[in-house]
Amino acid sequence: MKHLNQAEPIIVARNLTMIFRTKKIRLKALSNVDISVDKGEFLAIVGTSGSGKTTLMSLLAGLDRPSAGRIAINGRGIHRLSEAALGQFRREHTGFIFQSFNLFETLNALENVAFPLMVKGVSKSERNEKARAILEKLGLAEHLNHKPSELSGGQQQRVSIARAMITEPEILFADEPTGNLDSKTAHEIMDELTRLNRQQGTTILMVTHDMAIAKYATRVLRIEDGMVAQ
Ligand SMILES: Nc1ncnc2c1ncn2[C@@H]1O[C@H](COP(=O)(O)OP(=O)(O)OP(=O)(O)O)[C@@H](O)[C@H]1O
Ligand SMILES: [Mg+2]
Repeated sequence: MKHLNQAEPIIVARNLTMIFRTKKIRLKALSNVDISVDKGEFLAIVGTSGSGKTTLMSLLAGLDRPSAGRIAINGRGIHRLSEAALGQFRREHTGFIFQSFNLFETLNALENVAFPLMVKGVSKSERNEKARAILEKLGLAEHLNHKPSELSGGQQQRVSIARAMITEPEILFADEPTGNLDSKTAHEIMDELTRLNRQQGTTILMVTHDMAIAKYATRVLRIEDGMVAQ
């Protein structure tokens, strides 16, 4: 029997292995990782540079496919989906804040943030209004019309956070979301992520190397050399 207060897994990954092959080398970035994340959890993933954190997030978010292993989200095996179905799944259920921002250089801040809603077919006035509201909340009211090249690293990071939040995703993946921010702005962003997690029930997976930032999470998972540290 299922109890209402019993935590339900939203992400279950088993035996995840990722091998990168180039002409010269074969690098095992993840080996046999098992991970389970409950609905509504706020998980911090920590570990040294090169330990496999970004690789793990990319696999769990369906941005990359594992060399071996399986991933189920809400009980659905995403490693089996076609490219098209995987793309649709990502758009409908996930938001991703990239470590390197991945903003469109030719679009301004407002257009970058509104983009996921355009893909969903939301009208221009509605998506621009939403994008403006989020950017204002993140302190970027003066920069709506600026292209990424006209923004500082921390401003670009906040645009990328706004873009990931605009669709109100069920799962938010955040790869070093405060890596380029001063500590005051970083804590403001963390308050916003905490609010999303507590009030909207958004499941959050966040990579950080900053233990003061990891404290916002409800659980901390350490990755060492491509494996989950015990
Ligand atoms: N596309 C790729 N091709 C080849 N090797 C890769 C690729 N992506 C990652 N790697 C390698 O896999 C390992 C893990 O990389 P990953 O980016 O997951 O580390 P990370 O924990 O996110 O590090 P950081 O804290 O510096 O962001 C590294 O040794 C890296 O060089
Ligand atoms: Mg990384």
